[in-house]
Amino acid sequence: MAKRNVAVLMGGTSSERDISLSTGRQILGALDPAKYRYYAIDSATGKILPGCDGSAKALTDADGAEISTLARLPEAAPDQRPDVAIIALHGKGGEDGVIQGFLETVGIPYTGSGVLASALALDKARSKTFLSASGILMPAGVNLGKNDPRDIPFPLPAVVKPAGSGSSDGLTIVSEGGDLGAAIELGFQYDDTILIEEFVQGTEITCAVLGNDRLEALPVIEIIPAKGVYDREAKYTPGATDEICPARLSADVTQDVQEIAIRCHRALGCRGMSRTDMIISGDGRIYVLEVNTIPGMTPTSLLPRAASVAGYTFSQLLDRLIDLALEK
Ligand SMILES: Nc1ncnc2c1ncn2[C@@H]1O[C@H](COP(=O)(O)OP(=O)(O)O)[C@@H](O)[C@H]1O
Ligand SMILES: [Mg+2]
Repeated sequence: MAKRNVAVLMGGTSSERDISLSTGRQILGALDPAKYRYYAIDSATGKILPGCDGSAKALTDADGAEISTLARLPEAAPDQRPDVAIIALHGKGGEDGVIQGFLETVGIPYTGSGVLASALALDKARSKTFLSASGILMPAGVNLGKNDPRDIPFPLPAVVKPAGSGSSDGLTIVSEGGDLGAAIELGFQYDDTILIEEFVQGTEITCAVLGNDRLEALPVIEIIPAKGVYDREAKYTPGATDEICPARLSADVTQDVQEIAIRCHRALGCRGMSRTDMIISGDGRIYVLEVNTIPGMTPTSLLPRAASVAGYTFSQLLDRLIDLALEK
């Protein structure tokens, strides 16, 4: 079979640029060179990212002129024109439907969800309204816009988070007697909409789903941050968080969690992959926190971990995501 050309889009301009670069490098290191010709493009500049070990050092058009804006990607010479793009971007501009819309317009298939599901999932406030209406249990709370009054009474402990960021950026857990106002101000530095939620005490878990129409829930992962809080450091520092997979749950609860993850994937209309973050409260209720359409794939990330427990090497996981991207 002829080798496929794969463009790995990474970097970008969101607050999670560093995570994206890590995700992208991990992907480049695992793509099977027997199957793919691949290169890394920084979506912030449209240029090939040097030092990322892709097989192409420069991207050129049919006349040999270098291509250095993302907009000209479709003009790449036939031996370089991407058959598929792997979107290794997180946050705004990469995970929110924007790059997906561009790739749709120029006719390049891409991994993961389409425009609507991406946009909806990245907006934690609107996806919460939508998923709650679909019967998914989520923490009680309010969504606050930039121009709404900020002196609202809210019982503590509470969680304040910006609608459009990931990696716990701009998120504060406000304990009893804590400063809710300061947490709200911080949240608004990241987004024009924030969520204030009841703090759900319990066991944190996450469940990834693979597929377009036929969906496969991967083994559930239990997350135990050593410091107690699952912040940026706990997410990306090797050893800072204990991840137990499969999670120590009964078969029944595991099945419930996997069904909820599949329901979220379907409700939002996700494609390819998703990873739903949840907390099981002390009384056994399963709360959904958020759905990620482009889960991290850094060396410490959860989706590759769950996939490996399900029997996929990282390389096979990428093959699967590429096949799903090309599936009509
Ligand atoms: N309502 C909540 N109750 C308890 N913990 C929460 C709540 N919301 C978020 N958290 C904690 O903050 C982390 C990040 O929140 P999440 O909504 O998953 O956003 P993101 O991962 O995109 O930053 C969660 O993994 C969890 O540890
Ligand atoms: Mg999360």
